[in-house]
Amino acid sequence: MSEEQLNELSSRALQRIEAASTEEELETVRVEALGRKGALAQASRQMGALAPEERARIGKLLNAVKQSLESSLERRKAAFAEKALRERLESEWVDLTLPAPGIRPGSLHPVTQVQAELEDLFISLGFTVLGGPEVETERNNFDALNIPPEHPARDMQDTFWLEGGYVLRTHTSPVQVRGMERLGPPLRMIAPGRVFRNEEVDASHEHTFYQIEGMMVDRDVSIAHLLYFMKTLISAIFHRDVTVRLRPGYFPFVEPGFELDIHCLICGGKGCPVCKYNGWVELLPCGLVHPNVLRMSGIDPEEWNGFAFGLGLTRLVMMRYGIDDIRLLMSGDLRFLRQF
Ligand code: PHE
Repeated sequence: MSEEQLNELSSRALQRIEAASTEEELETVRVEALGRKGALAQASRQMGALAPEERARIGKLLNAVKQSLESSLERRKAAFAEKALRERLESEWVDLTLPAPGIRPGSLHPVTQVQAELEDLFISLGFTVLGGPEVETERNNFDALNIPPEHPARDMQDTFWLEGGYVLRTHTSPVQVRGMERLGPPLRMIAPGRVFRNEEVDASHEHTFYQIEGMMVDRDVSIAHLLYFMKTLISAIFHRDVTVRLRPGYFPFVEPGFELDIHCLICGGKGCPVCKYNGWVELLPCGLVHPNVLRMSGIDPEEWNGFAFGLGLTRLVMMRYGIDDIRLLMSGDLRFLRQF
């Protein structure tokens, strides 16, 4: 390779280095000029064919070209790095002197809010608020409520069975049993809490939801007492006229038993997924306590009787706020929860 050719190669490579607009282009130039199979490597391989003094001159020139290309590459590479850094600093810029966003107050979950309201209401009516465990004995969840092992009524509730005769309670009714056995008659109690059913989840069913149990045991309790408390409850919750209907309902622990339905407040009775397209929503199953239930908890049904109800608290919250999908309540989604 002649001196001329080398100078030519050098100036073309320098031009390309100056013109490169990305680091990748720079790298291509480096490989083609300075790489192991690059132009300079080739030139130095041809040197063996030169006369000794030629060789010294071309050798010197080769080194000079190599150094100048290397230093140009370094310079341009540093320029790219600096530009990248500048861009990053520009985009990640934070103003530390801005005022802090301040305290954002939280709020209670809508189920908790309505539960607290109902507790206040029932406390004002002379009821005690009781709690019970979510893992219950089979006896408290079923047997003591007049649902013996082989009874078909066991199929009314899809149960999560645990080992050792325990269940995730399917309703708050086992707290009736605990209340009767601990406190005895006369008794006025409510028991709000979380319950579990082995259900397919959809817009109106969850495997986990909330109920409020209510029970009154006294002398000469009648359906008139039951209806009075149910009406007081419903008007306290909805603060408006709600159409209700009472129909017979079967629950082994009450006799007679009722289903108190309300006109669906989501669709106004026209039909929607929440009311399963029939316009009515079961809200308040209730009835007079079955004598067997009193007897099993050590209360003499000749002397005492009572009523009980099991309010679907989750469903009630949905009706009150017009929430058309039960899953929202369990989602933990703050955009949803901040509305309450
Ligand atoms: N425990 C019943 C249920 O969850 C509801 C109920 C309670 C019915 C009290 C009558 C009396 O289905």
